[in-house]
Amino acid sequence: MKCLIWCMWWTWALLVLMGSGGMGCLEEERNALLGIEAAFNSSSGYSLLSGRDDNDSNCCGWEGVVCDNTTSRVASLYLNYTRDSELGALVVNASLFLPLEELQVLDLSGNSLWDLNGTLHLKKLKRLNLSNNYLQQIPALYKQTSVEAQNLSSNQLEGPNLEVLDLLGNKLANDALLDIARITSLKALDIGFGGLSASKLLEGLCELRNLEELHISGNGVSGPLPLCSCNMTSLRALDVQYNNFSGAIPSCLLNSLKSLEYIVLSGNAFEGSLSLASLANNSNLEVFHLHDNRHRLEVNTEDPTWSPSFQLKVFTLSNCVLNKDANGVIPSFLKGQYNLRGVRLNHNGMKGNFPNWLLDNNVNLEWLELTGNELSGAFHLPSNLSLANMWFFDGSANNFEGELPSSIGFILPNLYYLNFSNNLLRGGIPPSMGNMQLLDSLDLSNNGFNGEIPETLAKDCTSLITLKLSHNNLQGQILPRYANLRNLRSLHMDNNCFRGDISPSILNSSFLVVLDARHNFLSGTLPNWIGDSRSLQGLMLASNLLGGPLPYSFCNLKSLELLDLSSNNLGPNIPHCANFTIMRFLHLSNDTLVGNFPNFLYGASSIVTLDLRQNALSGEIPRWIGSLRNLRILLLQGNNFEGSIPPNLCLLKDMSILDLSNNNLCGEIPSCLNSSPFGYFESFTFLGEEYLIEYWESRDKRIKFKLVSHYQYIETVLSTCIDTLEEVNFITKSRLESYKGNILNLMSGMDLSQNNLTGFIPPELGYLRELRALNLSHNHLIGSIPGMFSNLQNVESLDLSYNNLIGPIPPQLTNLYSLSIFSVAHNNLSGRIPDRKNQFGTFEEASYKGNPLLCGPPLTSCDGSDQGSETPPSFNHTEEDDSWSEAFLWSFVGSYVAAFLGVVLFLYLNSYYRYMLFNLVRKFIPSFP
Ligand SMILES: *[C@@H]1O[C@H](CO)[C@@H](O)[C@H](O)[C@H]1NC(C)=O
Ligand SMILES: *[C@@H]1O[C@H](CO)[C@@H](O)[C@H](O)[C@H]1NC(C)=O
Ligand SMILES: *[C@@H]1O[C@H](CO)[C@@H](O)[C@H](O)[C@H]1NC(C)=O
Ligand SMILES: *[C@@H]1O[C@H](CO)[C@@H](O)[C@H](O)[C@H]1NC(C)=O
Ligand SMILES: *[C@@H]1O[C@H](CO)[C@@H](O)[C@H](O)[C@H]1NC(C)=O
Ligand SMILES: *[C@@H]1O[C@H](CO)[C@@H](O)[C@H](O)[C@H]1NC(C)=O
Repeated sequence: MKCLIWCMWWTWALLVLMGSGGMGCLEEERNALLGIEAAFNSSSGYSLLSGRDDNDSNCCGWEGVVCDNTTSRVASLYLNYTRDSELGALVVNASLFLPLEELQVLDLSGNSLWDLNGTLHLKKLKRLNLSNNYLQQIPALYKQTSVEAQNLSSNQLEGPNLEVLDLLGNKLANDALLDIARITSLKALDIGFGGLSASKLLEGLCELRNLEELHISGNGVSGPLPLCSCNMTSLRALDVQYNNFSGAIPSCLLNSLKSLEYIVLSGNAFEGSLSLASLANNSNLEVFHLHDNRHRLEVNTEDPTWSPSFQLKVFTLSNCVLNKDANGVIPSFLKGQYNLRGVRLNHNGMKGNFPNWLLDNNVNLEWLELTGNELSGAFHLPSNLSLANMWFFDGSANNFEGELPSSIGFILPNLYYLNFSNNLLRGGIPPSMGNMQLLDSLDLSNNGFNGEIPETLAKDCTSLITLKLSHNNLQGQILPRYANLRNLRSLHMDNNCFRGDISPSILNSSFLVVLDARHNFLSGTLPNWIGDSRSLQGLMLASNLLGGPLPYSFCNLKSLELLDLSSNNLGPNIPHCANFTIMRFLHLSNDTLVGNFPNFLYGASSIVTLDLRQNALSGEIPRWIGSLRNLRILLLQGNNFEGSIPPNLCLLKDMSILDLSNNNLCGEIPSCLNSSPFGYFESFTFLGEEYLIEYWESRDKRIKFKLVSHYQYIETVLSTCIDTLEEVNFITKSRLESYKGNILNLMSGMDLSQNNLTGFIPPELGYLRELRALNLSHNHLIGSIPGMFSNLQNVESLDLSYNNLIGPIPPQLTNLYSLSIFSVAHNNLSGRIPDRKNQFGTFEEASYKGNPLLCGPPLTSCDGSDQGSETPPSFNHTEEDDSWSEAFLWSFVGSYVAAFLGVVLFLYLNSYYRYMLFNLVRKFIPSFP
């Protein structure tokens, strides 16, 4: 009995000793942690282990350190995002961690880590997080001691020899991974956005048979998914999104990994075909992601017929060829799912009606995306229930028709985001939408809606940040008098039938950044109160019936970067106080401006586009125009400018479109104009997209959702969004073309036609290799056509007609393979027309007529003796001519569309942008342990 009491007492004493933490942490572990701290060297910014007090020898109390309660050994070390990124790249010697023998969790994410040098032999390690680092990106520079690096000559290190670096990167990454692959105790490994690009990344990890979670997203890994990954049968979560995996998705991956709960294959370059029937027996599956494919993967959900043993929470499948042999039906297995919270089926060529059953069956549905399919018919909602969890609904770019259900606002009361743009909807906007008080983004543009904006919407949807109703037939005032859209930042009402004054209720939206009301029937003057809308960055009122002078309060709009007041009767002056220091895009064409070139533009050093076409401005073009260093597009066509073209224009090193046509300019064409590039500009426009992110949280096995919409990053991207609104019309190929966004960056042209220019054509213009349109017609130019013009390799339209040019047409012009419109008519050219080869085979008589001394096809033969026997030009010529040029115009439009798509695709696929986006997104999301 005594003994028992003794024993109990001792046990208790021991427990008290241990529990009180009197033991503290082991000396060697404490030293190891101090060593790690030194290696991270975060003297500035966020301090690593900041809970440390030098007198507190118990390192278990330090921030980021978790000890085992009984042994006091360090069990978890959270060094995630501890290092200030300004400190640059980090190389850590793995041996620093080796004294922490009992370590089970190590989180080194987000530390600009370039290398974990040496071996990380921690036998108890279960969870390792190396995500959001730069592992092995430029290994040669940091592995100076390695044999491979020594073999590189200094030259190779200076200029980036990517091939060598890549090879080396692969090898070193493989070494590092082989090392990780030896930590067989690992249950979770995250190297998402780790900066690895090794093609065999996954092969190296297949040995980790105990692994339950593997995240290798965003690493640029290429090649097919290795078959050995089908052997990782313990996996519960597998995330390989946004790499560059190609080839087929092995079906064994879907049917052998029976424990899978979460699989993310999105954003790769998979090909071949995949049958989702392989998933049938994965009874634990909750999340399946396969979106952002490249339309090369055929996915079949219907053949064979199968029924799933799982109940999914999230299913995404987009940008693939879906059910090609089943007429593009919506996957029918979804009809047996009752627990769905998120569904994305974008850009799959799906046909059929709106899937009502999805909403009927899944009362917990939170988001549904069906954009870019061929769904048709009316859009019905279940009438007897309210989908209170639904906050994101995108049915845009389909063929839905009919009216929106009148009760939409009661059925979907908690929507944040609703997009039904680009459909065939019509009728009125349902007043019940006033019930959607959380709505922050509403886009119904490009439909056939009519009637007025419902009072309820304007009064009660006070959360609205973005409202897009462009391209409909809406009527009435642009915003009703009682509108109270307090949070509105972006209002797009262009191309409707709005009438009357600009409503002062716009002032209730005191954060308004963009107001686009182009192409309506607004009348009256620009109101004085507009100056109170101080946050406006983009004001677009072109093509309305506005008139009169601009109010002085206009000068208060100091944030304006884009102003488009074209095609009204505004004028005749702009108030002198206007300060356009930060203005980038200014369109005042086709108004009633008079007087000299506006002086307030002096100092408008940010200006990129200046459009003053079709006014009655006169006097000389000022020399200071050369100080507007950012000017890319200068459009002064159709005024009364006189004097000569100022050579200072040559100082504008970014010029890409110059239109001075239809003025009274005289003198010679400055030969220095070739010093502007008239070329292609890279665009840094960040395409604002709504992003929806869901992440895996392993501990409680719950899947959480996070909305990263306009709302959260609107501030960061709004200013760049202005770029996407900028639009310019420019005449090329005798046709007014409209260029917008990225296409605009591809356009370049010079139009000096219809002036009184004299002298020779400067041969130097031939250096403008990127120029796509050159028009010098209707002047008094003399001399010959410069042979140098054969260097204009990108020129699509070249018009030199109605001048006094002499001599022959240089035969080398037949090398202009892009040329589709060509005219030298009405000059005094002589000699033989270039051979009818390449594009010159397509130019007809009209290109050459009015030059009595020109000969050869398609005009008369050069041999004067048989002029009489020459077949007279066909009477169908003009018609034929038209059809030819029409065909080429279309091919031209086609090439721009292709170029545009190319750019979009580039952005879409460019992992850098993805990376940026994900970093942005990840800021909101705690990374996993
Ligand atoms: C250690 O102690 C803390 C707080 O006293 C407790 O929350 C935690 O669950 C304990 N851990 C173990 C493994 O007992
Ligand atoms: C590091 O990760 C842990 C666990 O996920 C988390 O609780 C902590 O907030 C993170 N710390 C930082 C600075 O991100
Ligand atoms: C990497 O570690 C090895 C030995 O473990 C050492 O010799 C080498 O200098 C280390 N390199 C760097 C860059 O720390
Ligand atoms: C899978 O593992 C088995 C042994 O368990 C092995 O025989 C087979 O080769 C592995 N498959 C692949 C593709 O590595
Ligand atoms: C110029 O503006 C008037 C209305 O002020 C409009 O009718 C006309 O179409 C516009 N012209 C061009 C070329 O846009
Ligand atoms: C115009 O505004 C800028 C700041 O936006 C200011 O620095 C500059 O002095 C202003 N210029 C005039 C003429 O008011």
